[in-house]
Amino acid sequence: MKIFTTKKETENYFANKGQKITGFVATMGALHQGHISLIKQAQQSTDEVTCSIFVNPTQFTDPKDLEKYPRPIAADIAMLEQAGCDVLFNPPVNEMYDDNEKWHLNLGDLEHLLEGKFRPGHYQGVTQVVYKLFNIVKPDFAFFGQKDYQQVLVVNKMIELLNMPVKLVMCPIERENDGLAMSSRNIHLTPFDRENALILSKALNWAKNNFDSNNIPAIQQQAQQMISSQPGVELEYLEIADGQTLHTATSETKNIVALVAARVGKTRLIDNMLFDW
Ligand code: PAJ
Repeated sequence: MKIFTTKKETENYFANKGQKITGFVATMGALHQGHISLIKQAQQSTDEVTCSIFVNPTQFTDPKDLEKYPRPIAADIAMLEQAGCDVLFNPPVNEMYDDNEKWHLNLGDLEHLLEGKFRPGHYQGVTQVVYKLFNIVKPDFAFFGQKDYQQVLVVNKMIELLNMPVKLVMCPIERENDGLAMSSRNIHLTPFDRENALILSKALNWAKNNFDSNNIPAIQQQAQQMISSQPGVELEYLEIADGQTLHTATSETKNIVALVAARVGKTRLIDNMLFDW
């Protein structure tokens, strides 16, 4: 695997890519099988796969969260080698940002709903870094996880607004055997939290299995209740929403997604599930 840490060497490398179809997986590291599943999916449909590892400071709303974000770079490199990834771009912060940078993209409603409400500014930071990464790597296809469903919508919106020549592919959520969605933050869960965290996927499954388009508010409320009554878990939101707009679903909505965020002990987790896809 080639490892680049500067924009220049990465840009130079991709300047001569010829006819190769290139795939890209952006990550913040602390890799797990969810990330690796994106690499695998990219390998199936492209000639060369690049992964980036960059803990992006501008997308963190809580400085403590940024500080304690896990950074096991040696283990990450070993996992990428093992997965057969071709290129790693792993820049330091000063390679990606000048001191006084400004960025704002009008993302409309998507920016302020759900995650946006609980993490103000988060999607400005995400689009800021993904824009830079796309410009440096210039991929034909970028593979993003459904795990961060709203992020997929936001990045797609950016691609559309800025007319970027990249196609986004959404890949399914990888879960532990008991249903917990894989996440780099799961390592912060105590054994007590780990057990309690299962209520997120359980409530989403329950809502999916009991879904009735004429009774959405009641189903949503009951799923919220399941989570709120779990010890050690503090619900932030659970919404049954339109998969395109993330507005509350109605009996007319075709593509439904249920999305949840909760604090489990000290760790904030998100999950979601597609219904009528
Ligand atoms: P990170 O949280 O490291 O996630 C990198 C990619 O892996 C995202 O597309 C995410 O949706 C996907 N992913 C995470 N957990 C997954 C799981 N259990 N199953 C499938 N895919 C999963 O998302 C980010 O980093 C950042 O916001 C980033 C896009 C890199 C910009 O900084």
